[in-house]
Amino acid sequence: MTMLRRRFSLLALTASMIGGALPAAAQMPTEAPVRYDPDHLPADFHADRRAAVRAAIPDGAVALVFGAPERQRSNDTNFQYRQDSDFYYLTGSEEPGSALLLVPGGVDVEGRRVEEILFIPPRDPAAEVWTGRRFGIERAEGQLGLQMALDNTKFEEIARRVLSGRTILVEDLPGGVAEGSDLSGQLAVFHEVAGRPDMVDGPPSPNVDTETLRQVLTGLREVKTPAEMERLRRAIDITAEAHREVMRQVQPGWAEYQIEALIEYTFAREGAQYTGFPSIVGSGENSVILHYETNRKVTRPGEVMVIDIGAEVHGYSADVTRTVPVSGRFSPEQRAIYDLVLAAQQAGIDAAVGGAPMQATHAAASRVLLRGMADLELINGPQDTQGLRRFFMHGTSHYIGLDVHDTGFYGALKPGMVITVEPGIYIPEAEDIDPKWWNIGVRIEDDILITDGAPVLLSGNAPRSAEDIEALMGR
Ligand code: GLY
Ligand code: MN
Ligand code: MN
Repeated sequence: MTMLRRRFSLLALTASMIGGALPAAAQMPTEAPVRYDPDHLPADFHADRRAAVRAAIPDGAVALVFGAPERQRSNDTNFQYRQDSDFYYLTGSEEPGSALLLVPGGVDVEGRRVEEILFIPPRDPAAEVWTGRRFGIERAEGQLGLQMALDNTKFEEIARRVLSGRTILVEDLPGGVAEGSDLSGQLAVFHEVAGRPDMVDGPPSPNVDTETLRQVLTGLREVKTPAEMERLRRAIDITAEAHREVMRQVQPGWAEYQIEALIEYTFAREGAQYTGFPSIVGSGENSVILHYETNRKVTRPGEVMVIDIGAEVHGYSADVTRTVPVSGRFSPEQRAIYDLVLAAQQAGIDAAVGGAPMQATHAAASRVLLRGMADLELINGPQDTQGLRRFFMHGTSHYIGLDVHDTGFYGALKPGMVITVEPGIYIPEAEDIDPKWWNIGVRIEDDILITDGAPVLLSGNAPRSAEDIEALMGR
């Protein structure tokens, strides 16, 4: 029965697209839920976040948050859509062409007094048969738990009424939005009402505040709630499993992209929706390139390989790096660098305690690396910070969450924050370096939950010590 009705609708819609009339039965293709995966963040999480933002909005101001625009990949094909992280945090909506208006104290709209309005694309059977079911306003209010959802065609009327004469809190507006695309009309109205048609590049307008909303959202997002931790832990567990799969299976002669394929297959097999960032699989000379994403080289026996990956689960991305010997055993030089980086990382993790500055992990890891690199005569003594920078040229910690480099103030560590600790040593080919060290790149990156007590290693399911890695690879 259901099958028959679907097939009928499909035929009817195709007919309408070539000019035929749309039968009444096909006006709304189906009322099946938009979401099939029950693990989405619950509606009350987003409602609670919106309430927290409303409470922080200064008197007389409103907040306007735009969703991410769709971005063109080539001709009529777009990149896979990714919602803006702040917008997703506040709504749970992954539909393009959307905007959220928060009005503390409320505004009268269509006979209701509401403090939050989600503008979304209207239901459209012809479009939905191509690109998928849309929430529509009833489901957006019910399923997402918004006080009010409106078709985004109503944005202009409401925006003119509510935004005029008030301070408008916005974040950076989506740039590069194509004329006539889903968001362009809303942005044009905003620019007109805000009195700043050249908002993206132009000088600040007195009634537009581009700072406060970012500060408020950063303050909220840098500490994770239990609901967020469930998704983040799952992303980290899946990422650790992908590392184990590589350690179990990889052989010299595999291309980096084949290793990438195994990783991303594992992510998908375990239920992750996306990768949080392009997978980094760098072997041999590519192990010393920090963000190598080309992944085209064939691995050779004797090389080390830096694998920096993160599954994304309902928006939350892990970020875990392991460095493995392609043949299953580290050479003595590789092992020396590996053990040094691991000791530095452990010092960094131990320093990640509530109340310490974010910078503490870098300071602790750097101290260990200075001593160790001096002992290996790769730098000129334990004071040679300049020398170390040649081999360790990045920071040690960042927040993770809805963005893999998540938003945060980089101040004191607080319980509930999740950060990476990821020191590395990257030794290039150079005349002044003994060739036995060339092309050894080692990064070890784990995800750490800050607590009132000891730091919690969330990514420990991926083997970390050289012994454990070699044991899993020793088949
Ligand atoms: N995966 C990028 C980073 O480690 O920061
Ligand atoms: Mn990483
Ligand atoms: Mn990282």
